[in-house]
Amino acid sequence: MTQHIDTQSIGELAPPNRLMLTPGPSSMDPRVYRALATPLVGHMDPWFKGCMDDTQVLLRQIFQTENRITMPLSASGSGGIEASVLNTLEAGDEAIICVNGVFSDRMAVIASHTPAKVTKVEAPYGKAVDPEDVRRAGKGKKIKIIGVAQGETSSGVLTQIDPFRKVADELGALLVVDAVASLAGVPLHVDRQRIDICFSGTQKAISAPPGMSPITVSPRAEEVFRTRKTKVQSWYFDLSTAMNYWGKDRLYHHTPPISLIYALREAMRMVMEEGLEARWERHRVNQLALIAGLEAMGLELLAKNPADRLATVTAIMIPDGIDDAKVRNQLLDEFNIEIAGGLGPLKAKIWRVGLMGHCSQKAYVLLFLAALEKVLLDQGVRVGSGAGVGAAVQSYMQARPEAVAVSR
Ligand SMILES: Cc1ncc(COP(=O)(O)O)c(C=O)c1O
Repeated sequence: MTQHIDTQSIGELAPPNRLMLTPGPSSMDPRVYRALATPLVGHMDPWFKGCMDDTQVLLRQIFQTENRITMPLSASGSGGIEASVLNTLEAGDEAIICVNGVFSDRMAVIASHTPAKVTKVEAPYGKAVDPEDVRRAGKGKKIKIIGVAQGETSSGVLTQIDPFRKVADELGALLVVDAVASLAGVPLHVDRQRIDICFSGTQKAISAPPGMSPITVSPRAEEVFRTRKTKVQSWYFDLSTAMNYWGKDRLYHHTPPISLIYALREAMRMVMEEGLEARWERHRVNQLALIAGLEAMGLELLAKNPADRLATVTAIMIPDGIDDAKVRNQLLDEFNIEIAGGLGPLKAKIWRVGLMGHCSQKAYVLLFLAALEKVLLDQGVRVGSGAGVGAAVQSYMQARPEAVAVSR
């Protein structure tokens, strides 16, 4: 048999330098790139074990927890979902998953791969699930977990965690929180809010490269793992055995992405240098300025209720007659700015602008609004000259002086 193996020679890698105003990955600070490029060591090297200690200390600070099981899974955010549901659910269990978008639905889909019975409690995209609906769905049943996404990235919606904790207490359930799009961008206190399992992704408000999913597990959830009757349906994501490596013994489990851990460590150092509260405030103030600018340009948001808006991701309704892809392509080609389109039922209906971690900056908000004005004018939308930038500037002027100082 003759083979036709392509013989072309491939040039050196030279990616464009984009401003990623997407719902992840976000652009990274040069300090994080430098950490990525430092020398590789082995994953069993005594020096690396110290680096793992640092990583876990920083993760506990960012999650606001003392949980023993706190580690970065070698997986993207979806791995965090997978680990959470596979370690808790087994045959005979019931789970309630709150679904208000593509990513919270993914938790329900992954849970349906277990033998447990899964009930979805839904809200329209653009709104948070009503905890009362969860209470009703669980009444009289033994519920093992309630799953909820704090930040639903597909619609830019924030869910308040505390009412779900209350319902979970009433139903005797563990509370599982997807903080992929919210950790380090939105207030979250794992211990104080008594979240049993919380996971995130490194590529969003932490602004490290994609590829790791930080996760933390309460002692109560650990006890549930210990008393399982059946094996976890995944060897890789069995958190008890993964902790042989990330726990005190530091025994080999799998080879972790060492360079990504360096980068995560540096990105988290930056989070803690800034301070969690200052960082949450920076995300809040920059989103308010973005929204002021968008509304002044005559654009509408998907989440109508300001209390439902997720500070890290803003979902904008695409005006009638405007081509979704044309706008996004022009932003990319003319301004080097990437934003995202809608997913699932929101495809071609919304744009999603991420102001996450490094990207939540005053200069980027103003640049984006100016670029969007030019693109919308080219696409035939009537926009008042400078309306977006002007309104955003006014929004910054009205913010408390200390908040403006942190809004970069
Ligand atoms: C809320 C949420 N959960 C889960 C995921 C899945 O993460 P990943 O794409 O890193 O697997 C995402 C990704 O955008 C997300 O936003």
